[in-house]
Amino acid sequence: MAFVIAVDGPAASGKGTIAGRLAALYDYPLLDTGLLYRAVGVAILDGGGDLDDPIAAEAVARALDLSALDRTEVRTRAAGEAASRCAVHPGVRAALLDLQQAFAARQPGSVIDGRDIGTVIAPHAPAKLYVTARPEVRAERRWKQLVGQGEDVTFEDILADIHKRDARDGGRKDAPMTRASDAVLLDTSEMTIEQAFDAARRIVEDAR
Ligand code: C5P
Repeated sequence: MAFVIAVDGPAASGKGTIAGRLAALYDYPLLDTGLLYRAVGVAILDGGGDLDDPIAAEAVARALDLSALDRTEVRTRAAGEAASRCAVHPGVRAALLDLQQAFAARQPGSVIDGRDIGTVIAPHAPAKLYVTARPEVRAERRWKQLVGQGEDVTFEDILADIHKRDARDGGRKDAPMTRASDAVLLDTSEMTIEQAFDAARRIVEDAR
């Protein structure tokens, strides 16, 4: 079986950074599945479509152009919000399933980060992490990142976004964000990036 390292958790928990560093360490390909949902959200907005229309959103997801994942627009605050809105539709999730599962089958292994990797995409992944941090800590990190990208936002705006996104991602019926029963919880609230990566590496080593 492929050695999938599943890294799930809420927005700005540090999971993306950890996933990227694990991929570099093991020389495994990395899939940031949030980008898939972001690209679908951006494509719907670009086409003047309705994020809350499940049929139209699924059609966009089925026609997704993977080169869109590199566009800078997918990293914006608006794209994150759009992603979370279209990610509630089961048809959108189904449209993105094969691509993610094919990635999970890659040998000798891969690193995949998202919300439902350990629960739905790769439930048999040998290494599963659930990375989290307190909402205020996550809001601070995301706020600095967005300001660094030139966005004009306040910390309070971002904290409100984080609470809303947690509620929507954790409360949806299909593939809600949740810790798989066999995922190791990693709370990065009081950790530097170095400490968080070190803890993640030890969790993966234990699973090897
Ligand atoms: O991780 P990121 O913040 O880029 O994800 C954007 C949104 O995409 C999330 O808030 C979530 O709604 C959705 N998502 C998802 N399942 C995944 C990855 C992301 O529903 N595996």
